[in-house]
Amino acid sequence: MTVAPSARAATPGYDRADWASAFRNVGVELDGVPVAAARGEIPAELRGTLYRNGPGRLERGGQWVHHPFDGDGMITALRFDGGRAELRNRFVRTEGWLAEEQAGRFVYRGVFGTQKPGGPVANAFDVRLKNIANTHVVRLGDQLLALWEAAEPHALDPDTLETRGISLLGGVLNPGEAFSAHPRFDPGHHGEPRMVTFGVKTGPRSTIRLMEFASEGPEAGTLLSNSSHTFPGFAFLHDFAITPNWAVFLQNAVSFNPLPFVLGQKGAAQCLKSKPGATGKFWLIPRDCGAHAGEAPRVIDAPDGFVFHHLNAWEEGEDVVVESVYYADFPGIGPDQDFRAIDFNLLPEGLLEQCRIDLASGSVSTTRMSERCCEFGMVNPGCEGLPARYAWMAVAERDTGNDPLQAIKKLDLSTGERKVWSAAPRGFVSEPVMVPRPGATEEDSGWVLCVVWNGARCASDLVILDAADLHELAVLELPLAIPHGLHGSWVEAA
Ligand code: CO
Repeated sequence: MTVAPSARAATPGYDRADWASAFRNVGVELDGVPVAAARGEIPAELRGTLYRNGPGRLERGGQWVHHPFDGDGMITALRFDGGRAELRNRFVRTEGWLAEEQAGRFVYRGVFGTQKPGGPVANAFDVRLKNIANTHVVRLGDQLLALWEAAEPHALDPDTLETRGISLLGGVLNPGEAFSAHPRFDPGHHGEPRMVTFGVKTGPRSTIRLMEFASEGPEAGTLLSNSSHTFPGFAFLHDFAITPNWAVFLQNAVSFNPLPFVLGQKGAAQCLKSKPGATGKFWLIPRDCGAHAGEAPRVIDAPDGFVFHHLNAWEEGEDVVVESVYYADFPGIGPDQDFRAIDFNLLPEGLLEQCRIDLASGSVSTTRMSERCCEFGMVNPGCEGLPARYAWMAVAERDTGNDPLQAIKKLDLSTGERKVWSAAPRGFVSEPVMVPRPGATEEDSGWVLCVVWNGARCASDLVILDAADLHELAVLELPLAIPHGLHGSWVEAA
């Protein structure tokens, strides 16, 4: 028997048209526009820049992308200083963006199913990847890096957001080499702060290249450590986690059948599917600077489920603990579905789980940390890789079930106590960024910055919350409509 979705959803606390209204093209590039607070006051102590990345171009020549993850990367920067804010946004001038701007239509296929006009015949055997630079943006030395996990980063000017071009990071990368969109920032487990990241080359076997770069001072961007590790099987690795001694990967139990992609029927990411009966694996790679340097990686069975993002990881005696957002299954979008008409009730929700990996016995125990649908969690950046008491994340308005993300939650990981700020019914949140108050010793002292899609205004707001109790400090009504985005980061003013 099929249960009608409406029978499961009591009264949705949102209008799907409000949520879907964020899917649009961004038609302007603003160049340092002052933005005042519509409500509240911008904290004077907040000094630095919030960078966000996400798809800003979703349609060309009347054709929509099949999935918003196929949209071209657009960087938004909000610079704060002395209680004032300035807004700038700019598309990353990738080769694909320039070619398609000129052509006025899609010239490339998208990994998430967007096809060139002309059907399978036009798309078959075209396996070129369009590096769309749309997933994350981080500062490394004097470069701003727009990241997309299947290829090299694009370097941008951190002030003007002008695209400098593809960066091989001073010869560290080979042309076309995969470079993760999820670097982790080691706050100084072994002295100087580092950016730890990876690239993965997959197939019947998968090779992870683990790289560590100096991330502060005049040496920022210098490669400090570099190693490669090969594992059996196909790997879909979007994110990872670090501790002082380990880089922690979770290989989801998915298989990849490239044939429909090669034949022009599906996007590459649509060829992923859960592998029934297979077990995911934790791959723990010793960090070169840690206590297990030179040892072989550890491979340990992982619990069932699918993970895009980890919250954090740390060590406790012989245990490595990793907290991640688990889905019951791989939440794919098939070739015949319209992403704007998604039925949230038919998709699995993300739930925060804590996995304790006992390295001595190889066993794993799992604890669910919350029943509320969540994504995009982070801890205080000073606690990255260490035990953290608090986490901030985007959550659904309802306590259970799958819905769009409409609220921000602060979770006390030791007591389960939670505080929630909500943008419902007409607001839809993106990834919250926790910014520690300079010089503060309390883990939850600081601010949470979040770009919110305001369905009533059909534009984006920037909301500033107090990180400790989530009370609203300021709302900036931006003169910009930013489609639902992916990741971003905070760079403190020099
Ligand atoms: Co991500």
